[in-house]
Amino acid sequence: MHHALIYIFGGTGDLSFKKLYPAFYALFRKGDLPEQFNLIVLGRRTIETEDIRNQIDERLSRELINEEDRERLNAFLKRIEYFSMNFESQEAYESLNQLSCELCKEEQAGKIAYLATAPEYFEQIARHLTCSGILQKNNENHRIVIEKPFGKNLESASQIDHSLQACLAANQIYRMDHYLGKSMIQNLMILRFSNAIFEAAWSCRFIDHVQITVSEDIGVGDRGGYYDHSGAIRDMIQSHLLQIVALITMNQPKTLHYDDLADEKVKVLKAMKVHNIETDLIMGQYGSNGVQPAYREEKGVDPQSCTETFVALKMQIENERWKGVDFFLRTGKHLKRRVAEVTIFYKNNLPNIKYKNAPQNRLTIRIQPDEGTTFHFNLMEPSNEQNIIEREMDFCQSCLLIEDSPEAYEKLIYDVLQADRTLYTRWDEVEASWRFIDQMLMPCKERQLVLHPYEIGSWGPKAASELMDSGRAWVEGD
Ligand code: BG6
Repeated sequence: MHHALIYIFGGTGDLSFKKLYPAFYALFRKGDLPEQFNLIVLGRRTIETEDIRNQIDERLSRELINEEDRERLNAFLKRIEYFSMNFESQEAYESLNQLSCELCKEEQAGKIAYLATAPEYFEQIARHLTCSGILQKNNENHRIVIEKPFGKNLESASQIDHSLQACLAANQIYRMDHYLGKSMIQNLMILRFSNAIFEAAWSCRFIDHVQITVSEDIGVGDRGGYYDHSGAIRDMIQSHLLQIVALITMNQPKTLHYDDLADEKVKVLKAMKVHNIETDLIMGQYGSNGVQPAYREEKGVDPQSCTETFVALKMQIENERWKGVDFFLRTGKHLKRRVAEVTIFYKNNLPNIKYKNAPQNRLTIRIQPDEGTTFHFNLMEPSNEQNIIEREMDFCQSCLLIEDSPEAYEKLIYDVLQADRTLYTRWDEVEASWRFIDQMLMPCKERQLVLHPYEIGSWGPKAASELMDSGRAWVEGD
C-alpha cells in the first residue's frame, strides 16, 4: 500500500490515546507505515485539528528521548487531521468523503477504518461508510477494524456481524483481539508445533490439567460506565481467555494461513463444555480496602451493581485428545499482581515406579509482564538418592530484549496494513465463543445470589480455590 487513509472513529477516546496513537507512532518511527498516509481522527466534539495534534503530542512526547525524536514526532503530527462529525448523519460521511478525495487523489489508495467506538455504532458506521462511497464492498484495499466487545451475547453479536457482512466482504473485516498480538501468545504455536518434545506429550495421556490466569492489579478506573454493562465474563473470558484455550488445545493446522488456523480453532471452541455451571463458575466483585473504593463506589457503576469483576471457571474440551483434562481459567480486576500466564501440569505417570513426593512436571508460559517459559522437571537429589528434587529450565525472553516486545496493537495494526489476517479472528470463532459464554450470562437477580465479595489485592474469593479439586491448587493463590 503506497498511500493510506486511516480513519479513527472514536479518536478522542481512551483507547485511541492509550493504545492506537502510540502504536501508529511506533510504526511511523520504524518506517512501517505507508510512505504516504493520513490519520483522520473522527469525533463528535467540535475541536480543531491543531487541538487534537496538541493532545496527541502531549501523550506521545512523554517518551521522547532526543531532538531527532522531536522532529520525527512533528512530522508524524503533520499527518493528522481532525474531522468533527455526527456518526449518524449521512451528510457528514459525504463531507468526509470529500476530505478524503482532497487528501488523496490516488484511486488505488488504501482505506482503513478503525472503529474504536462502542459496538452499537459498528453497524451504522459501516453502512454509512459504504453508502457514501468511502469504502467499497469487495475492494480488498478497503478494510474495517473492529474490536471486542462484538456485542453482548450471541444474538447481538450475530446481528452486528450480519450487518457488517452486508456492507463488506468477509476479507475486508478485521476483528481484533489484542491478546493475539502479544508476543508470547504468538509463541504458543511455535512452542507446540516446532518442538516435538512438547507436542508429543500434548494430550490427556500426559497432561493432568491446565491453568490460565490473567489478573490485573488495578480496578475499573474511569471505565466503570462500560464495564458495568460488561463484566469479566464478557470483557475477558469470551475473547482473550477462550482464544488462549483454543491455541493451546487445537490440532496442528494444515498451514499457518488464516483459514486453516481458524478452522482448527473453531473445532475446539465448539467442543468447549462446562459440566456444571452452578459449581464450576465462580464470580466475585471487589470490595473496598478502606483506601480504594469498592467496585460499587466506582465512577459510572451502579451502587447496587451485580457485575462480576472476577471469574474462575473449570471447563473441558470434549474430544478424544483432551478427555478428562480440566482447564482452570481465572481473571479479575484489583487482584494481587498483574500477570498473564499459562501452566500445563503433567501427570505423574510412571505406572510401576512410584517415587515419593515427585512433583508434577510443569510447563509455564509467561505472557506478561515478564515474557518467557519455564519447565519444571525432576532429578535425584545429589546427596540422597531416595529423594527427588524439582529443577527448572528457564527461558526469559524479556531479559534478552533491549526494548520491550512491540506492543500488541503495533503488531496488529501493521498486519492490517499488510492485509494479513492471521492474528485476527474469523466470525465463526466469535460465534462459537459466544455460544459457549451465553450459558453463563444470568440475570442480575440470580447473579446477586452467587457473587462472592473479595478484597482488593487478594487472589479473589476463597471459592475460587475451592474450585480446584483432587489436591490441586492455583500456581499463585492465597
Ligand atoms: C481489554 C479489557 O480487552 O483488556 C480490559 O477490556 C483489560 O478490561 C484489558 O484491562 C487488559 O489488557 P492487557 O493487554 O493490559 O492485559
